[in-house]
Amino acid sequence: MRIKTKEEYDKAYKESVEDPEGFWAGVAQEFVWKKPWKKVLEWDFNDYDVKWFKGGKLNITESCLDRHAATKPNQPAIIWEPNDDSEEAITLTYSVLLDRVSRFANVLKKNGIVKGDRVCIYMPMIPELAIAVLACARLGAIHSVVFGGFSARAIADRINDSACKVVITTDGAVRGNKHIPMKETVDDALVSCTSVEKVIVATRTRTPVSMIKGRDVWWEEEVKHVSGDCPAEEMDAEDPLFILYTSGSTGKPKGVVHTCGGYMVYATYTFQNVFQYDPGDVYFCTADIGWITGHSYIVYGPLAAGAISVMFEGVPTYPDAGRFWDIIDKHKVNIFYTAPTAIRSLMGFGPEYYKDKDLSSLKVLGSVGEPINEEAWHWYNDEIGKGKCPIVDTWWQTETGGIMISPLANITKTIPSFATLPLPGIQPVLVDDQGNEITGNGVNGNLCIKFPWPSIIRTTWGDHQRCKDTYFSAYKGMYFTGDGCQRDENGYYKITGRVDDVINVSGHRIGTAEVENALNMHTGVVESAVVGFPHDIKGQGIYAYIICEEMPSDPEMTKKDILMTVSRIIGPIAKPDQIQFVTGLPKTRSGKIMRRILRKVAEKDVSNLGDISTLLDPGVVDEIIKGAGL
Ligand code: WT7
Repeated sequence: MRIKTKEEYDKAYKESVEDPEGFWAGVAQEFVWKKPWKKVLEWDFNDYDVKWFKGGKLNITESCLDRHAATKPNQPAIIWEPNDDSEEAITLTYSVLLDRVSRFANVLKKNGIVKGDRVCIYMPMIPELAIAVLACARLGAIHSVVFGGFSARAIADRINDSACKVVITTDGAVRGNKHIPMKETVDDALVSCTSVEKVIVATRTRTPVSMIKGRDVWWEEEVKHVSGDCPAEEMDAEDPLFILYTSGSTGKPKGVVHTCGGYMVYATYTFQNVFQYDPGDVYFCTADIGWITGHSYIVYGPLAAGAISVMFEGVPTYPDAGRFWDIIDKHKVNIFYTAPTAIRSLMGFGPEYYKDKDLSSLKVLGSVGEPINEEAWHWYNDEIGKGKCPIVDTWWQTETGGIMISPLANITKTIPSFATLPLPGIQPVLVDDQGNEITGNGVNGNLCIKFPWPSIIRTTWGDHQRCKDTYFSAYKGMYFTGDGCQRDENGYYKITGRVDDVINVSGHRIGTAEVENALNMHTGVVESAVVGFPHDIKGQGIYAYIICEEMPSDPEMTKKDILMTVSRIIGPIAKPDQIQFVTGLPKTRSGKIMRRILRKVAEKDVSNLGDISTLLDPGVVDEIIKGAGL
């Protein structure tokens, strides 16, 4: 399934469009199936429904673990690098990982988990997180990993939405020189969760935690009393593998559902081809397993490909801004995959942090999560890749499960800030606001995909209508990505950013409505409007316009209180970077907020506000501009 030349790419792409079923059946053959599928694909984008490898039976962990444990038991699967560089790194070979996953799967079983149950995982980046994820998959339990930076309330919302029966967490976590109380946050969440029967606590920091009799158990105690063998549950290709919550333009986060067969095939195929992974290569993805990048490209994709995957617990700036480069040097990393926000931040610290590090092991560099600006691209290319490592700018989404548009390393010609060409099986189309397809090259439009790929979102947990409305109703018969896109003269794609009310902060998706809901919960706040604005490091920052019952007498203090409220409701990642108190918002006569104006003010560019004559009270615009100090 590995493409090696541009000609092979062209051929694979052509075949994938002309005979998608034949193409994907060929790829899928290379995995472990308990029973072959009866039909490769059934689909309907109008009344959304899609099934890949119907009738096929498998357990993804057999492709990720058992087959490699049988053929190369002593090869590292995961190399874990701790937060503190004075602590030892830990290597888990394929045979050790299989043993630990099986053992922990037996622990879950002993604690009442059966196929189809939902399990919430709220953990820092320690080996037990990967083990917990795979143990769920082993039993056919559906994992819902919640990023360690979310608040108790956000955890509770996610647990309740999918009625999780077990929560897996740690006592505490360390990130840089910060200590984070994980179990305590879970305890706070569980006050409002009735579905949770058991909490399994792994020790990381051994800080004191409350352990409730009958509910809370220690990971280390539990694993002592179970066997290291656990048969892999037989799953249907279309049984859910996991739920991952993500933000949209409206309302509460939605639980994106991915299924066993198609997800496995696509995550692995894209891993091998985009990064051109060769056996023995050391691959390091800096994402957190709490996001889709970690699911697909730290855990499932690399392991199914039999790769060596580095997992890092800490942050890029601890103990200093050279930590990534240290890790590359120490573990002789060949393939390095990170986010533009990290690149921009590290670029700012200057050459003293990388000039003495040996980065010569690097062969391929990757970027993900947000558009990479040219300055960051060139720095990454020149200073880190020394001009000899292709940069794969990978565009994809939580909903797509795997990389959709990206160069294949050393095969596709790269251009700074272009995601370049679609992967085999991906049929992108650009459409205008009326839904007409824009054909030809040298055009701009809304990015849609007109044919299913194996790891396309199947549903949003508990609400299939929402899935249809969000992705399949804006443009008839197509999956709408929410992104704007340019196709240049050569047919290369450049993602220009979200066209909906989603903000991309440091590569994390945050819905404006979600932040507004949190702001509005603060006492005294009457109404708020949130927009994104360009931010040097984060890509986009969050700008909040807030109407209070009365103008705060100590605005700085009130701002701090408001930030604390947002932290409590969502998590620190959703805290606005800027807050401006206003007495009114620019609304049309029908009551719709004209966000275009708020965006312009947040960008500090009020030269061309466009037509504001349809505003109910055009006077508020002057006040907002003045209030922003412009
Ligand atoms: C949104 C998806 C994909 C895993 C991490 C984010 C933006 C993602 C790129 C890129 C420009 C990008 C898009 C997309 N995005 N990768 N290479 N160039 N924009 O997953 O949280 O689901 O966010 O991130 O706007 O829609 P996510």
